[in-house]
Amino acid sequence: MKNFEEKIFDYLASHLSPKRFEHSYQTAKFSVELASVYGVDILKAQTAGLLHDCAKGMAEKTLISFCRRNCKDIEDFRNIAKYAPKILHSFAGSVIAEKEFGIKDAGILNAVKNHTLGRPDMSMLEKIIFVADAVSYDRKYSSASKIRKLAKTDFDAAFKAVMYDKIEYVLRKGAWLCPKALETWNYYAV
Ligand SMILES: [Fe+2]
Ligand SMILES: [Fe+2]
Repeated sequence: MKNFEEKIFDYLASHLSPKRFEHSYQTAKFSVELASVYGVDILKAQTAGLLHDCAKGMAEKTLISFCRRNCKDIEDFRNIAKYAPKILHSFAGSVIAEKEFGIKDAGILNAVKNHTLGRPDMSMLEKIIFVADAVSYDRKYSSASKIRKLAKTDFDAAFKAVMYDKIEYVLRKGAWLCPKALETWNYYAV
């Protein structure tokens, strides 16, 4: 019989591209490293890291209808679905983690759910997944390795740098910025 971790790997291998599978593995790896530095449950960090993008392989239309049916209370759902539907993979992923893998732990589910936009008053596990996703070892953009190092010595500064880079990326594209991302920024900026 397959153990829990094998079941997750099988699911990811059959639902994600090889690149996204590798990213999930690398996010889990860095999440575990950060969890061990900051005294967070290693197994929860590993599980949330592995599963954070489990819905990333869904087509946008499927994602929207999946979330309409299964995800309760997504703030700004209409605008997200219209302007940035990819964001929905976080919310869908949390539902899949619960339904497909029987995860009941609110900490893990919230870490998956909030890994893209964040939210005010996140748990340390949520913040770790948020940062690890952005600067996992497979991320090659210019500031990734600097923030990766910073995350182990000054986590708050790394967290802020990740928030900044994410918002800057959206603004540089001239795209719609989800108010929740700004709410997260404002909560942690001061
Ligand atoms: Fe993601
Ligand atoms: Fe990710």
